[in-house]
Amino acid sequence: MRVITTVREMVDERSGWASSKKVGFVPTMGYLHEGHLSLVRRGREENDILLASIFVNPAQFGPHEDLERYPRDLSRDLHMLETLGVDVVFVPTTEEVYPPGFATYVDPTGPLSGEVEGGRRPGHFRGVATVVLKLFQIVRPHQAYFGQKDAQQVAVIARMVTDFNLPVKLRVLSTIREADGLAMSSRNAYLNPQERAAAATVLYSALQAGRMAFEAHLNEGPLIVTQAMNEVVLAEPLAQLDYAEVRDPGSIKQLEILRAPALLLIAARVGPARLIDNFLLHPDGTWDTGIRVTT
Ligand code: PAJ
Repeated sequence: MRVITTVREMVDERSGWASSKKVGFVPTMGYLHEGHLSLVRRGREENDILLASIFVNPAQFGPHEDLERYPRDLSRDLHMLETLGVDVVFVPTTEEVYPPGFATYVDPTGPLSGEVEGGRRPGHFRGVATVVLKLFQIVRPHQAYFGQKDAQQVAVIARMVTDFNLPVKLRVLSTIREADGLAMSSRNAYLNPQERAAAATVLYSALQAGRMAFEAHLNEGPLIVTQAMNEVVLAEPLAQLDYAEVRDPGSIKQLEILRAPALLLIAARVGPARLIDNFLLHPDGTWDTGIRVTT
């Protein structure tokens, strides 16, 4: 496995690959867990050359967010990626990605970036879209892998790919969960054992309650669903709800009535961590609630 740290070397390496080779790409911020690894495994199956990146992108963190304390373990990450047969890992420094004079950003507009997660984290999706476009330009993948865990990120990137006619196919894979339902996240490392137990109850159980309410009240207004989610969070003293929402999965616009396709979105603070999760209702009426790992 080759580890590349400069844009120049990455571009040179990429230009050496035959055009007949299918190139897959898994962008990450590192501190890898089974969620990331599910993307890597699928990417390995579906491509001739598989590339991953590890870059904690300052542009997507707000001034009071957790950029400094975001967990990092590069040698462990590289070992995991090597074991799974990744060909190249791109690990640029901040200066490589944002050199002096850097001045151009991709700024998604509307509910896609300004509401729900974007409403709580101003500038977050601007940072995500900018770095993902840069990485796509440097790596030029045929297919790129993202997790449904970050549903609004998927919507933002899909919109960008369409709007800028980017020649990349997005592959979106289900959320990987711990056995108790907690979605895997690098930020779970912030939780102590009590908070860890509370987090699963709050986010996953609230989504389950929301889904049941959704199914029982099809074609009604979404309030009944958000209230059901809210009640679950209120019952957990270690958690504070940030939002519980029912949105269109493509545009992130609010749904007026409960029908497919739909996205149930939740964010809550549990101790020092701010956690997000979602369930997706496909247009055909099937739910993607993620995959629980069995331990
Ligand atoms: P990061 O949070 O490291 O996540 C990298 C990829 O792994 C994302 O596509 C994310 O949705 C996916 N992922 C995270 N947890 C998952 C889980 N439990 N199940 C399935 N997939 C999961 O998302 C980012 O990094 C950044 O915003 C990035 C796209 C790299 C741009 O900086």
